[in-house]
Amino acid sequence: MIDQTRLPLEEVFIECGDYLCVADAIKTMKVRGAPAIGVSAAMGIALGAKNISSTDKMEFLNQFNQICDAISSTRPTAVNLFWAINRMKNILEKNKDLDVSFIKEALVDEAILIANEDEEVCRKMGENGAVLIEDGDNVLTHCNAGALAAVSYGTALAVVRAAFNQGKNIHVYVDETRPLLQGARLTAWELMKENIPMTLIADNMAGYFMSKNKIDKVVVGADRIAANGDTANKIGTYSVSVLAKENNVPFYVAAPLSTIDFNIKSGDEIIIEERAPEEVTHIQGKQIAPDGVKVANPAFDVTPAKNIAGIITEKGIAKFPFTESLKTWGHKSQSHKDTSEETCGLMNG
Ligand code: MRU
Repeated sequence: MIDQTRLPLEEVFIECGDYLCVADAIKTMKVRGAPAIGVSAAMGIALGAKNISSTDKMEFLNQFNQICDAISSTRPTAVNLFWAINRMKNILEKNKDLDVSFIKEALVDEAILIANEDEEVCRKMGENGAVLIEDGDNVLTHCNAGALAAVSYGTALAVVRAAFNQGKNIHVYVDETRPLLQGARLTAWELMKENIPMTLIADNMAGYFMSKNKIDKVVVGADRIAANGDTANKIGTYSVSVLAKENNVPFYVAAPLSTIDFNIKSGDEIIIEERAPEEVTHIQGKQIAPDGVKVANPAFDVTPAKNIAGIITEKGIAKFPFTESLKTWGHKSQSHKDTSEETCGLMNG
């Protein structure tokens, strides 16, 4: 995986030989973004299982559970992490009567399947969301919901990429996204590589540009979406949604069904990760605040469903009230069987 903490100044790749390296990469955000975290979790579990030397079933199961526990304790908010761990646990459960070597093979196959599916899902999301983007649109995005945050293509940036590739003349405003600057470091890097027209702005400039009618749409990603559509995403997303509402700018969320947590009714139940104070007191290792200052550093906030014009998924675009429009997909996605288009409660279905 590419080390995202070093971008955009250095393109350094990390090769993990064991699951602890993968767990550390997720925790320290060398790999980040909800879908990428999910795929890395699955790969980390497959790698860990492959490395278990014991052929004794009980011992293998013990060590497998330890691996899952280590991966699940890395970051609490992005539900894709837990979704991927559950898929790996289900594979183990289905194959538990086989020899350890066959179980290992099944786990590796599942991790590869999760990665391949992610790529396909992102492309589908892009196609579905591109219908919302008109020729000449200025689109604001927050954080990085691009190829770096998934296997490739991304979620919010998949919509941007698809619209751009369809020949639409678009321009993207990129929020820098303090404290860790995923917008300035990562989104700007991705868009510039593909020559997609963009302008980097500090987070506190979004309202100014909306009030001057310079922004036509907002498209962001998500880390966890509750059954009612309340959406946890990078800190600052909620403020953008309020500004968008005030200025009549449609605010869209692009996320795969694996980011929807049908087990929770509303955003009140989402655990918000609190990260180290140094991420606020320092920028790229350089101290910018007085020694000993008191700091708060929630990594995510929750945008209420009422501020969201549509949730773009691989199945189509769900609209408010999301509890109804997302429900059918919930039942289907839990079985992991159905990949066909659905048309229930969609804007473009
Ligand atoms: O803390 P991060 O950088 O992992 O947060 C990432 C975000 O908030 C993204 O917007 C979200 O995961 C969607 S990524 C397709």
